[in-house]
Amino acid sequence: MGIRKRAAEGIGYSDKFNSKLVFCWQNLQPHSSTPSILKQFGRLKVNLMGKASRDKRDIYYRKAKEEGWRARSAFKLLQIDEEFNIFEGVKRVVDLCAAPGSWSQVLSRKLYLPAKLSPVTKDDDLPLIVAIDLQPMAPIEGVIQVQGDITNVKTAEVVIRHFDGCKADLVVCDGAPDVTGLHDMDEFVQSQLILAGLTIVTHILKEGGKFIAKIFRGKDTSLLYCQLKLFFTEVTFAKPKSSRNSSIEAFAVCENYSPPEGFNEKDLHRLLEKVGSPSGTEDLDCSSGWLEGPNKVYIPFLACGDLSGYDSDRSYPLPKAADGSYQCLDPIQPPIAPPYKRALEMKKASSQGIHNLDKLSLGP
Ligand SMILES: C[S@@+](CC[C@H](N)C(=O)[O-])C[C@H]1O[C@@H](n2cnc3c(N)ncnc32)[C@H](O)[C@@H]1O
Repeated sequence: MGIRKRAAEGIGYSDKFNSKLVFCWQNLQPHSSTPSILKQFGRLKVNLMGKASRDKRDIYYRKAKEEGWRARSAFKLLQIDEEFNIFEGVKRVVDLCAAPGSWSQVLSRKLYLPAKLSPVTKDDDLPLIVAIDLQPMAPIEGVIQVQGDITNVKTAEVVIRHFDGCKADLVVCDGAPDVTGLHDMDEFVQSQLILAGLTIVTHILKEGGKFIAKIFRGKDTSLLYCQLKLFFTEVTFAKPKSSRNSSIEAFAVCENYSPPEGFNEKDLHRLLEKVGSPSGTEDLDCSSGWLEGPNKVYIPFLACGDLSGYDSDRSYPLPKAADGSYQCLDPIQPPIAPPYKRALEMKKASSQGIHNLDKLSLGP
């Protein structure tokens, strides 16, 4: 079954790994005649081979485990920083859509831990890092966690309260919905997350501050660029080397927050819509159609990360121990309650011959 067909049938999945789990689970035969010990051995072998093969195919996945990052995404933020120096002078940060937490780890290691270890920093001066996600996250030193939906005004209010009247120097957002494979829809849902991020930005970012947000490049990229330019003097779309070429993901690096004069946060949506229909024609949907032809905008696009560094689209040989074996590391911190948890539990239950799945103590 093709990706698009699966998406059309409403089966959500977030990446290849998850999709495999969901579809394996659907095809499970609880009463297979294969002796279970053999089946389990086979599964273990496939798992180990699968892990080693991912280590080989995905150098950033392997490096993340070696360096103690919870996800390979950590390298994306580090490579953006190499190019844009985003942490300079930063004392207060918001990490939107933070789970499982590799960006928060970067923030903790780059900002909080050096300050904590410095003999001259007083407790009151320690950097403030607030991380938000729908999913719970294992604790990270120096990071305050809020579990919530960033598109919900109540979550924004909780974040603002943590800042206690102060403003943030940096807001980062690596938010991604469960990708369906339908590019237009994925791009739309992604843009809703950016919009939610921008709403929080308008309440909490100090003038001159920075906003980094994941985007999906698509037909409305020009519109998004113009909308962000309303609020920031510098906007660059960056592609870190650790982000695969095959992925439509990129990052909007927005510098020097300067909202229009007299800007009222309540006017955000009206202002953004105006960029999409500048003639003010009401029957026009907010779109990037008018940004074609003579109005075409040229978006600064930058590849970042050491160009002689690792290429995320290449396979690399695995480092072998003296005896020729390869030591495959486990992920640093598996997600606490991932969306695919129920599928995993059901798979386990069916392999143990539990027939009445309703008896499982699982959430929806
Ligand atoms: C790519 S992951 C973020 C990875 C993270 N930056 C890291 O380095 O570990 C995307 C996250 O966006 C979160 N997310 C998606 N929609 C959200 C929403 N409306 N509110 C809060 N979090 C959301 C998901 O739960 C997921 O954890």
